[in-house]
Amino acid sequence: MNRSLKNVLIGSFGGGSTAAAGGVSKDQGHFKEVNLADAAVVLAYANKVMIVPGYGLAVAQAQHACHELEKLLNEKGVEVKYAIHPVAGRMPGHMNVLLAEADVSYDKLQEMEQANEEFPTTDVVLVLGANDVVNPAAKRDPGSPIYGMPILDVEAAKSVIVNKRSMKPGYAGIENDLFFEPRTSMLFGDAKKVLQDLIGEIKNL
Ligand code: TAP
Repeated sequence: MNRSLKNVLIGSFGGGSTAAAGGVSKDQGHFKEVNLADAAVVLAYANKVMIVPGYGLAVAQAQHACHELEKLLNEKGVEVKYAIHPVAGRMPGHMNVLLAEADVSYDKLQEMEQANEEFPTTDVVLVLGANDVVNPAAKRDPGSPIYGMPILDVEAAKSVIVNKRSMKPGYAGIENDLFFEPRTSMLFGDAKKVLQDLIGEIKNL
C-alpha cells in the first residue's frame, strides 16, 4: 500500500484531497466521491462495519458478493453486521429473504431499533442500493412525503459509504440529504460489480 491509512481517511472523509472527487447538486451543495481502493482500505481497517442493504442490492443480485465481503472483512478482524429496515426493498421481508439466499447468518441481522443503537459505535456504514430508508428528510422535513417514517440513523456512525449507480432518487422520488453530509462518500457503480471489485482490492491489501 503506497498511501498511509491516515492519508486515505483524511482524503476520503472530509479532507478534500485528490482522492475525494465529488460533484454538486443544484439544491444541496457538494457530495464527495470515494474510489474503490480507498473504500477498501477504510473498510479493511475498521473495527466495526454495518451494511445497510436496499432495493438496489436485490436488483443487482449482489447478495452473494455481499456475504463474501462480510466473510473477508471478518477474516481481517472486522466486526460486520447488517441493519435491516422493515420496508427496505419492495416486499415485506425482502432483505431477509435476499440475505438468507446467500447464507448470511441470521444472528448478523439487526432490526431497525437495534441497528440505530449500534450506529454511534460503528466506524463505517456501507449502504448498498438503499436510499429512502436512510433519508434524514423523514426526521427533518415536515414537507417530505416520507416525513414521520422511521429510518436507519446511519449519520450517527463515524463515516458512511453509499453505493448506488447515480444520484437518482429511489422509490419515493425525492433527493437524499445524507449523500451531501460531510461524513458521507459516494461509491458509484452497480452493487455486484462494486462488491466484487472491493473484494479484489481488500485481498490485495
Ligand atoms: P429505494 O429508496 O427504492 O432506493 C434504491 C436505490 O437503489 C436507488 O436509489 C437506486 O439508485 C439504487 N440501485 C438500483 N439498482 C442498483 C444497482 N444495480 N446497484 C446499486 N444500486 C442500485 O430503496 P430502499 O432504500 O430499499 O427503500 C425501499 C422503498 O420502497 C421505500 O420507499 C419503501 O417505502 C418502498 N416500498 C417498500 C415495500 C416493502 S414492503 N419493502 C413495498 C413497496 C414500496 P441508482 O439508480 O442511482 O442506482
